Amino acid sequence: MSQEIFDKVKDILKDIENTAVQSKDELEQFRIKFLGTKNVVKPLFSEIKNIANDRKKEFGQLINEVKQTAESKFNNLKISLAEGEEDAAGAEIDLTAPGAPMTLGARHPISVIMNRIIDIFERIGFTVAEDREIEDDWHNFTAMNTPDDHPARDMQDTFYLMNSTEMLLRTHTSSVQARVMKAKQPPIRIIAPGRVYRNETISARAHCQFHQVEGLYVDEGVSFADLKQTLDYFAKEMFSQDTKIRLRPSYFPFTEPSAEMDVSCFICEGKGCNVCKYTSWVEILGCGMVDPAVLENCGIDSKKYTGFAFGMGIERQAMLKYRVDDIRLFFENDVRFLKQFTSA
Ligand code: DAH
Repeated sequence: MSQEIFDKVKDILKDIENTAVQSKDELEQFRIKFLGTKNVVKPLFSEIKNIANDRKKEFGQLINEVKQTAESKFNNLKISLAEGEEDAAGAEIDLTAPGAPMTLGARHPISVIMNRIIDIFERIGFTVAEDREIEDDWHNFTAMNTPDDHPARDMQDTFYLMNSTEMLLRTHTSSVQARVMKAKQPPIRIIAPGRVYRNETISARAHCQFHQVEGLYVDEGVSFADLKQTLDYFAKEMFSQDTKIRLRPSYFPFTEPSAEMDVSCFICEGKGCNVCKYTSWVEILGCGMVDPAVLENCGIDSKKYTGFAFGMGIERQAMLKYRVDDIRLFFENDVRFLKQFTSA
């Protein structure tokens, strides 16, 4: 009995070798017969129990050989039958040609910088607060100590929504300060990343949309020294441990005192270059102690609490870091531009 099964399998093996395949149809017949779910070898499995124990291993090997022979013949035939084939456009398919390369996607450079800033502040206990881009006048201006007739409104040209004097596209992420303070009492320690809009003529240096990251820390006893320390930590983490900061007195309606922060030029490291315009300093952000009027506007007791705030533009930092000389490139989504940041 045993020998009979062995002979049957050997016949199948010969059959595989001798079967002539000239066309795709015949190849399919071949596949069904020898490799399909109902292939000719399968029924023999039920007879394994009749094989003497000492020959079971030999039988297993033989079956394997059948399978491998069928598979390799099938694969070779598949390739050789495809060789003369044409693709839909009529061109001959070159099976030896290298495959089309896989292109890797990457984060947009603005996201890269933004995530980096978020990460740096999260490490010292700030949490991300996001809010609306379509904002009302009160949160964007009035709460931030910039009432209707305030000349500082001219600092930021605003897009108002059609037929509205109330609703606008936020001109800065400082509006998120008002949203957070209205909703929650101190301690508050947030950073607010997001897109902002200004009615500016679009040029290489200015755009009507860009991104900012706002920071706000309000608690009992928060001082200007805390602000300086926090920003010094940020600058060192963001650019390099050798980076120095410089605060220059400035004016913002929502902070008093206010300052602008420069960092020592991370391109030339103080030697002088066209990025820092040979001053060895680069302006990065605006900051200051939250004006008590802002705290009161948002329902926070300004006798008990003090706070600091800062706000920075992202495009500017990305332009400096990647030496991009036209801000419009960030919004055009031209893959030739974006591809350059795949390893950023
Ligand atoms: N909102 C300011 C702007 O868009 C940036 C800014 C300056 C934010 C000082 C602040 C700040 O929180 O304290 O130009």
